[in-house]
Order: sequence, then C-alpha cells, then structure tokens
Amino acid sequence: MLPRSGHLPGAHYADWLRSLQSQLDQRRADHLLRELHPSNVAPGSTICLDGREYLQFCSNNYLGLAADPRLIEAAREATSRFGTGSGASRLVAGSLEIHQRLEAALARLKNCEAALLFPSGYMANLAALSTFASPQDTIVSDKLNHASLLDAAQHAGAMHRTFPHRRYARAAELLARAPVGRRFLVTDALFSMDGDVADLPVACSLAEQQGALMVIDDAHGTGVLGATGAGLAELQGVEGRIALTVGTLSKALGSVGGFIAGPQVVINTLINAARPFIYTTALPAGPCAAALAALEIVAQEPERRARVLGLAERLRQELRAMEFDCGDSQTPIVPVMLGPAAVAVAASGFLKERGLYIPAIRPPTVAPQSARLRISLMATHSDGELERLIEGMRQLRGSGLLGR
Ligand SMILES: Cc1ncc(COP(=O)(O)O)c(C=O)c1O
Repeated sequence: MLPRSGHLPGAHYADWLRSLQSQLDQRRADHLLRELHPSNVAPGSTICLDGREYLQFCSNNYLGLAADPRLIEAAREATSRFGTGSGASRLVAGSLEIHQRLEAALARLKNCEAALLFPSGYMANLAALSTFASPQDTIVSDKLNHASLLDAAQHAGAMHRTFPHRRYARAAELLARAPVGRRFLVTDALFSMDGDVADLPVACSLAEQQGALMVIDDAHGTGVLGATGAGLAELQGVEGRIALTVGTLSKALGSVGGFIAGPQVVINTLINAARPFIYTTALPAGPCAAALAALEIVAQEPERRARVLGLAERLRQELRAMEFDCGDSQTPIVPVMLGPAAVAVAASGFLKERGLYIPAIRPPTVAPQSARLRISLMATHSDGELERLIEGMRQLRGSGLLGR
C-alpha cells in the first residue's frame, strides 16, 4: 500500500502504513471492520447500494422529513438567497438572521429562554460539558451515553465517573462522593442503541438532592416524544428541572446541526466561551431553513409521532412473540440483541439477501457480546413495508443462524 504519488517519505512511514493495515485485517477477522456503503437515493424507506434497492430500517429520520418537499423547498429558497456556505464563524461575519429565528424556535420547543446552534450535535455535546465543567468538578454519566457525551466529559478535564445504565441509586452514590466543585449528572434521554429512555423524574430528584446540574442529550427524542414533540423532558413532565438540553437537527428534524437550549445566561456564556461554537464556521442558511420547516411540521402534524411510535409498538409485539430480545425499547428504535458480532453480521447479511437493510451494530459501539440489529422506524414506512420486515425476521428466526 503506497500513497498515490508513489513517494514514500521513509521506512518509518511504510512501517506505519503496514501496522495500520494489519490492525484493519484483524478487525475484519473479528467481524468488526467498518466500511462505507454509499447510497444514491434520497433518504426514505429505500436505500440503493451497489445498484440494488433495499428496504431500510436503520435511519434516524424518524418522522420521514429528511426528503420532505417542504424542507427541500425551504432549503432551496434560503440557499438561493444566502448562499451555500456561511463563510465565517458566527462571531465574525457568519451570523444570519435565520440562525436567530431557528434558535428562538428551538427555545420555544424546549420551553427554555434561549438556544444556540452548533454545526453538529457532537459539537453541541462537546461544548455543553467542556464549557461548564472544570478540572475540580465531577461529571457523573450513564455508561450507555452517546460517545459524544462521553468524549465531552473526557475533554472537559473534570473527574468523570460512569454508573451502570439507568442505575440511579449508583449515580447518587457517585455524586455524594464527589469532592468539592460543581457536579453534573449527564444522561442521554433516549438511548440510541437500546431504544429505551432515562427516568428523568428520578434522575432530576437525585440531582436536586445532591446539588448537581442535570444535563440531557435528547438527540433522538426531539420531535418524536412528548405531546408537542419537545422530547423526553416534556413526556416525563420535567422540563423546568433540566439545567441544559442538547439536541440535534439531524434526526427527526431531517436536517443537520446541533443545539443547546437553556437559560439566557447559559447561552450568553456559550457564545463567549464555548470553543466548539467560537472556532468553527456557522451553519449555512439551507439546513437552518429546513429545520425551521421541520419544526412547523412537528407542531402541525402530531400524527407523524403517533404513527412512528405505533409502528414500533407493533414491531416489538411481533418480535417478542418470536422470542427476540428487544430489551426495554419504548421508542422508534427497536434493538434485536444477538450477542456475538459474527451472529449479528450473519443476521444482517441474511436480511440483506432478502432485500432488507439493517446493519449489525457491534463493539465498540456496544458492549462486547451485545452485538445487535438496531431496527429504527420512520413515520413514512408503510404497513406493507413493516410486514416485509416482520416476515424477514420470521425467516431469520427459522433459519438456524441464531443457534436455535
Ligand atoms: C445521543 C446522540 N447524541 C448526539 C449525537 C450527535 O449528533 P450529530 O449527528 O448531530 O452530530 C448522536 C448521533 O449521532 C446521538 O445519537
């Protein structure tokens, strides 16, 4: 393996490339190699890979808005007025009035004073913890929090402790033991690989008892959960008890970008001190316009939420009747726990041969021996498409691939 130029800047370079290749070879042998599979159709219930169309059940486009004509038109119109790139960071010359309109709409959705946009949810999480937690502080995180939150906790340089998934008594112990300094209790709202949800009333109560600030990442619940689609805090009635909410525009809202919602003083501090806000280019207008259009649809079409949650409930009933383990899923994300990575890869391949695309989720994204198919549904999946999935899963169960 040589660089394209054919030029090798030294034996150490060749050595390095060889060692990288041998690590990748080992990953392949362990069924853990990750590869890109580009599609060339708009995000919807089908995906086109290597010229073949598959029904897909693996996207985070829960409301089916990522290719909705209203979002496309809004993005097109904003792009033709304001251009494809914003050209600068928000604090230099990249701030547009549409950023502020979207921030106001997100703050309304989250029932907060203010919100601030970031180029991605990952960066919003990075900012949320690295801006407010210092080395003398303690961050207590659910072990299954998204990688971006766990990375953010490391990046903050604070003491970082994790508690077993949703074991809040353990979180309370860790908070109680924290040395002087500020304490943060940090959790995903809806866990992306398990489809289950945090118990926010319990988490908020113990955070309040321990004097800890409650930080949630509702990337997957925003637009999907709660009476108005505000997310898990709305569903569980704890909106006023959260210090900071992180969200993303990239899932149910069908666009791209992340945000933090909270009190105005928190947002003003982020504008002044959050490095993932200050030192990066502002989101272009197109994705902001698309997200604004999505927020209108979230408000006006609650039936989309009901539809995707109903499809997921029906799927769970069918899968559990076939004795698949779907964990404690209660949302559009329905995992099918299969254990070894090789089994999950084989199951995914079996379904793919039948026209169903559901990639295997393997370590390190999930714990060793907990590889799974992560099925996710969209409001725009038809009843017939769901039936095809159920039939595929029935065939998988009968195939002998799963060991019984
Ligand atoms: C729980 C959670 N938080 C944050 C993110 C990051 O969001 P984004 O894709 O906008 O960077 C994701 C997904 O990618 C996620 O699943």
